[in-house]
Amino acid sequence: MTLAPVAADPADVVELDLFLEALHRRWHYDFRSYSRASLVRRADLARQRLGCASLSELQGRILRDESVLPDVIDAMTVQVSELFRDPTYYLALRREVIPHLRTFPSLKVWVAGCADGEELYSLAILFREEGLLDRTLFYATDLNRRALARAEAGVYPIDRLPVFSQNYQRAGGAGTLADHYTAAYGRVAFDRRLRERTVFTEHNLAADQVFSEVHLVSCRNVLIYFDASLQDRALGLFAEGLARGGFLGLGSHETLRFSTHARHFAAFDEPGRIWRRTASPEDAHA
Ligand SMILES: C[S@@+](CC[C@H](N)C(=O)[O-])C[C@H]1O[C@@H](n2cnc3c(N)ncnc32)[C@H](O)[C@@H]1O
Repeated sequence: MTLAPVAADPADVVELDLFLEALHRRWHYDFRSYSRASLVRRADLARQRLGCASLSELQGRILRDESVLPDVIDAMTVQVSELFRDPTYYLALRREVIPHLRTFPSLKVWVAGCADGEELYSLAILFREEGLLDRTLFYATDLNRRALARAEAGVYPIDRLPVFSQNYQRAGGAGTLADHYTAAYGRVAFDRRLRERTVFTEHNLAADQVFSEVHLVSCRNVLIYFDASLQDRALGLFAEGLARGGFLGLGSHETLRFSTHARHFAAFDEPGRIWRRTASPEDAHA
């Protein structure tokens, strides 16, 4: 695989390639098809956090010292999120998608790239308010194990509450956000019943396969970090995993329009960035 060089200095390009190669060959974390500009920044952040003078020094450490891996993966991935981030998306889910999901006797939802869990709790709150939580199984996946542990804990600093509450209202919240958490000692802890039917598990969109048929895939603000080929791979997994008539929600700057898998989907709610899995001609022959 060749990586497009965008860094000015050819030595930096080779150094970054070798670092990514080492991470992949030694630990099977494959960042080689991530968008290059963000990779340069993330790798440099990892270098700084580990106190290394160069990426080559960091490469030497990751080859032999597994204990630095969680810090490196944390630095290489971006966990920025909010509860009900982009309320338009959740409003569209509530108004347009939920009426269709309601017709299924049981539901499975895949939150791919769940980071610290904000997207999962947003969906769980929405499903609870719409009376669907008890018949839904959620899969919350990410390649970052530390993020998964934070997602499972469901505890956030209390100073994030004003944004969370504002987003919840804008997303058409049916009650008050306080119905779903308890606040103490500067933190908010989401109701554990929201995650009772959630499987938190490691899954890498760059390397792993589909694990279940689902009715909704919510994969927001993950594809933006991928190059076109990796975006295509991930969208292929979603096309394969979604039941016919199931829904795919992407981030506000993401699209599947240019993907080879676009033929498996129909636009469903454009402002909300939601697509619907169609039955394509090749499905009929599968
Ligand atoms: C910016 S966060 C998105 C959080 C949430 N989905 C949202 O929209 O608010 C991106 C997440 O994608 C995860 N991620 C990046 N590459 C991934 C991959 N190849 N497979 C699975 N998750 C990945 C990162 O670890 C990070 O937690």
